[in-house]
Amino acid sequence: MTQVPPLVRTPRFVQLHHDDHAAVRAELASGLQASAAYTSPKYLYDALGSRLFEAITELPEYYPTRTEASIFARDASEMAARIPQGLTLVDLGAGNCQKAARLFDVLRPARYVAVDISVAFLRGALLSLQRQHPALDMVGVGMDFSTTLTLPPPAGEGPRLVFYPGSSIGNFTPAEALTFLRQARQTAQGGGLLIGVDLVKPVSVLAPAYDDALGVTAAFNRNMLLHINRLLGSDFDVSQWRHRALFNARQARIEMHLDAMQDVTVRWPGAQRHFKQGESIHTENSYKYTLQQFEALLREAGFSQVTPWRDAQDWFAVFLARAGS
Ligand code: AVI
Repeated sequence: MTQVPPLVRTPRFVQLHHDDHAAVRAELASGLQASAAYTSPKYLYDALGSRLFEAITELPEYYPTRTEASIFARDASEMAARIPQGLTLVDLGAGNCQKAARLFDVLRPARYVAVDISVAFLRGALLSLQRQHPALDMVGVGMDFSTTLTLPPPAGEGPRLVFYPGSSIGNFTPAEALTFLRQARQTAQGGGLLIGVDLVKPVSVLAPAYDDALGVTAAFNRNMLLHINRLLGSDFDVSQWRHRALFNARQARIEMHLDAMQDVTVRWPGAQRHFKQGESIHTENSYKYTLQQFEALLREAGFSQVTPWRDAQDWFAVFLARAGS
């Protein structure tokens, strides 16, 4: 008997990540108690933080989002010509899925796997995308891909194109980025990687992108303290902290910090930390690469046939790299 394919597909969802509240509290407390206090940039993204980040991407000073979009708008067909059709497109940090969706017509994937920390972020976007692309197999996966890239069975077998736009790779240290890229190569075996990377450029362009005139990036950074208060039960008073962004030329990274504007004691259940006026919490690094450095990193991770596309000002690059089988 011949099997009749279903007329309307529905996305499938798998939630793998579950918050470990005790581990989160322990991680936050140890960063805050370090002599040079720090936090992971992942705590920038509560509901408000995610909306503030979306607002950042529309700021005139924040060039990465629109520069990357202009590269895809100009060169996506050329990229697609080097990518076999019918792959599984794995979208890391998919969010509203819009960046990947713009590529469906040109890449013609057989399956779309949207990955984010929680399927709750993906549900609405995938349901509406499925209506526009009824034949495309769609899977939403809730997992922390910064720790593992082993996809669950509904993500399917066969060659994959791992899609990691937005220069989020820059929020890893180069050593972490190498580990991540090695995992991406394994996940993409027989397929490839399409990744957006922010390039080294004059500090006159970089600095305002992370310290905009409207103060949206400052709000994004300071909002992390409200998020931490909820997670840790701490008593940060946001009005006592100032946003600071600087370009660390030696390490080729933008650093974001929160500086105490006066002596502050922050308390949370079981511990406290005193900050002297001017003492800071290091909240994020955003590494910038040269084309050569990033190509070398891709090759070190085991990729081959590396092709970059960049904008006319050399501010941003999209790399396609092959993950041999
Ligand atoms: C998400 N990530 C690539 C952004 C960046 O540029 O590093 C986060 C960001 N931080 C401040 N502004 C934007």
